Amino acid sequence: MASVPSLAATVHQRLADALSAALPEAGAADPLLRRSDRADFQANGMLSLAKKLKGNPRELAAKVVESLPAGDVIADIEVSGPGFLNITVSDEAIVKTLAARAADARLGVPHAENPGTTVVDYAQPNVAKEMHVGHLRSAVIGDAVVRILEFAGEKVVRRHHIGDWGTQFGMLIQYLIEHPHELDHKADPTQDQAASGEEAMSNLNRLYKAARALFDSDEEFKERSRRRVVDLQAGDEETLALWRKFVDESKLYFYSVFDKLDMEIRDPDVVGESGYNDMLAETCRLLEESGVAVRSEGALCVFFDDVKGPDGKPVPLIVQKSDGGFGYAATDLSAIRDRVRNLQADSLVYVVDARQSLHFKMVFETARRIGWLGEKTHAYQLAFGTVLGKDGKPFKTREGETVRLVDLLDEAIDRATAVVREKSENLGLTEEEIAERGAQVGIGAVKYADLSTSAARDYKFDLDQMVSLNGDTSVYLQYAYARIQSILRRAEAGQKPAAHPELPLAPAERALGLHLDQFAETLKEVAAGYEPHKLAAYLYQLASHYTTFYDKCPVLKAEGGPAQVENRLFLCDLTARTLHQGMDLLGIRTPERL
Ligand code: ARG
Repeated sequence: MASVPSLAATVHQRLADALSAALPEAGAADPLLRRSDRADFQANGMLSLAKKLKGNPRELAAKVVESLPAGDVIADIEVSGPGFLNITVSDEAIVKTLAARAADARLGVPHAENPGTTVVDYAQPNVAKEMHVGHLRSAVIGDAVVRILEFAGEKVVRRHHIGDWGTQFGMLIQYLIEHPHELDHKADPTQDQAASGEEAMSNLNRLYKAARALFDSDEEFKERSRRRVVDLQAGDEETLALWRKFVDESKLYFYSVFDKLDMEIRDPDVVGESGYNDMLAETCRLLEESGVAVRSEGALCVFFDDVKGPDGKPVPLIVQKSDGGFGYAATDLSAIRDRVRNLQADSLVYVVDARQSLHFKMVFETARRIGWLGEKTHAYQLAFGTVLGKDGKPFKTREGETVRLVDLLDEAIDRATAVVREKSENLGLTEEEIAERGAQVGIGAVKYADLSTSAARDYKFDLDQMVSLNGDTSVYLQYAYARIQSILRRAEAGQKPAAHPELPLAPAERALGLHLDQFAETLKEVAAGYEPHKLAAYLYQLASHYTTFYDKCPVLKAEGGPAQVENRLFLCDLTARTLHQGMDLLGIRTPERL
């Protein structure tokens, strides 16, 4: 496992050394290097430095050039404009660096220098309720963030904070006691995971509706339900057993949906709201004793100077209601204590809808005031925007109901399967293979559409666009990958991918090569800011560079002879591996044949 410095890092280092050799008085000044259209890189750090030293930037730049050691990395460097440096690296350096990447299983991506422990709170649906598109976002973004952080060497603890507690369970449990067979499954041994998940959800839906109707119309049932809540909170065994039945039924469903999403959710990581019940009273006591929370009209509240309602009155975070009940905030505050103290987390990431931002702002601030979050632990809400329908309004069915997540996924898979069937006619795929790839393409399309815009933004759920072969879609990336695999398969026995640093590169090869070299730096930025969309953008550009390369540079019939064939196969292979690794970090499959 060798981390490979990028060309940008190498050039940066050379320039920094030359700068301090030419101008010892400059100290450790930053040459400010960036990618450029004029040359491979441009450095404009000389401008601000000259201002500081009251010198002439062009003269300064010329001095830096003089101090550069003759070497094989920088092929050309010139002073331009007011004192920029335009730098071209040698073809040899590009291929050598890429060869070092190719020799490493991690493509030269280093592990984080100081890995810590991050708890990622994501994929948190609610018990006895349908999963909708909002749950899609949390699951997809969270899964990508987990993969990216783990790849960087961070220790990640996953937490699925499912909504499994609350007064609605009184009504549900009471109804089930009075109608004991409502959650029974058909005894069908041939049923697969998807079917039993569906059956569980449709039972839960039916029960929910019936219980609700009774609760709203029958005062006596309402009263029995209220008493049931008290039993539940008191830990009555029979009541708890029935509550668990609801949780288990729902999990059956959740797991079937996550499975369709090609996502691994592990049972021990599902620690729902109920998992913090034992901590709630203490959390409130600590908050009250420390003075961070105060009693106001019987409720335990935390106040904030900058949080006010439309009437100008402060809106507090309520940790305990006046009737003694604990809510969402008490649970989240307890979860912070657990995650920091027991899980030893340095960072807490919450992948949750932006509409809950005020809640998290108040919860984090409360935790800071009492010292549960401090300088060494930071909490961050990776807030995501709303999924919109084609009309630009929040996604609803024609009847105005929220759209079921599974229905969307099934439709995406159907569309993708049609695309795969049409495109793969001459590949001779079996029905089973078409179905498998259809799922990989369809689910990939949904994930990619979500991950390729920055999380905070709303986006339109448009399946036509998502499964399109052209444009910024996962299908485009998957086809680029499969096309490379097909070239590698078609290569004859003597034609192997092999780097030839001695060969001159065509412009399209250089562009592809320089982009490949940026993979590690991109990942570093992506991990540091929890920004999978930047990885998606990188991969899309990679596929675009590859497309240009493929148009301009024949691979198996390269005009420069066998060494050039090998060198181009090498570029193909490294592109494929980079695409594969990058897509894997987004949770998207790259089929070998499409
Ligand atoms: N179950 C909640 C919902 O569906 C999301 C939970 C978010 N996580 C948390 N720690 N509050 O809206």
